Amino acid sequence: MTATMPDPSSSARRHLRAEVLAYAGYTPGEQATGCVKLNTNECAWPPSPKVREVLRGVADDTMRLYPDPRANRLREVAAGVFGVPSRDWILAGNGSDDCLTVLYRSVLKTADRVAVPWPTYGLYDDLATLQGAEIVHVDFRQAPHTWHLPTVLARQNSKLVLVANPNNPSATLVPVDDLRRLADQLDGLLVIDEAYVDFALSENPEASVLPHLAAHPNLVVLRTFSKSYSLAGGRLGLLFAAPALISAFMKVKDSYNVNALTQAIGIAALEDRDQFNANMRRTVAERARLETALSAFGWTWPKSTANFLLCEVGERAGDLCRELKERGYLVRWWNRPGLSTKLRITVGRPEDTDALVGHLRALGC
Ligand SMILES: Cc1ncc(COP(=O)(O)O)c(C=O)c1O
Repeated sequence: MTATMPDPSSSARRHLRAEVLAYAGYTPGEQATGCVKLNTNECAWPPSPKVREVLRGVADDTMRLYPDPRANRLREVAAGVFGVPSRDWILAGNGSDDCLTVLYRSVLKTADRVAVPWPTYGLYDDLATLQGAEIVHVDFRQAPHTWHLPTVLARQNSKLVLVANPNNPSATLVPVDDLRRLADQLDGLLVIDEAYVDFALSENPEASVLPHLAAHPNLVVLRTFSKSYSLAGGRLGLLFAAPALISAFMKVKDSYNVNALTQAIGIAALEDRDQFNANMRRTVAERARLETALSAFGWTWPKSTANFLLCEVGERAGDLCRELKERGYLVRWWNRPGLSTKLRITVGRPEDTDALVGHLRALGC
């Protein structure tokens, strides 16, 4: 007779932290294959061909040995590309999500407060929940053309304030002067998550707060290779801050948090400025085509400074998302107040735009 398996949900769970038991788990965008992915804001074009060369030439020892725990060479190259004084101003992470985890673990203890303008990137909430911290949402001031930072954000008595700039899901950009003022007003760290700023920089060279890092000791800036460098699968993010903060974060991160392959392809991607610039130009040009096509449906969106649009489409938004999925096209929809009538659509390749618009027409838009 087969022995009855013990119920895995039973007594052992009592050893887990209450925050973990109560936590529902982060819901990332759907990562399906065999469809056109316009739902998680990856770049539509491939990474530098130098990345492929690096992968082809991987030596046995690259895999046999541990990687450089501090990713020194990568950080050195990054310091040059991003214009910070030295690698001591940079922490490398397994995606910028890993950098966020290091930040939260370094800064927050139970019941500390984290404030964000809302709506924004959902992981900021989830990491706070896991840390036992309190998340405070302060609504963006939404105008038709753009979203403004709420002025009361500085007065939330929070140890961390996070601003995605450009923001996800709105693709809107807050002026650097507003962010610098916020940094000056805060008695806490200000984290500017610039996951999408490369798309903005290609049209507005003043879009990033990174050149002002040295002027604000409480400022932290995040960049990712998942979007503008077309390396979401490689998992690489960078955190920029004053060396006094970086040396503390170094103690908190996992010892080997960026694997050897990722360090090598990160360097290759950084060094190929031509492919990077071409991908930025192609994205901005295709965004303009997508905007022209979608405006024919009477849809509106705040001005996009990123590689996606947050379209106001009305009550049909959820149904449209489902119907597009049935046709092999993934876009993003949230069943949440303020977002349920909107679709977030990533800029794809020209053929993706054309096919998407064709399907939307066929669906009666
Ligand atoms: C604002 C923002 N920050 C961070 C991330 C995650 O980046 P990574 O892939 O480097 O973890 C995303 C991904 O969608 C994002 O939208």
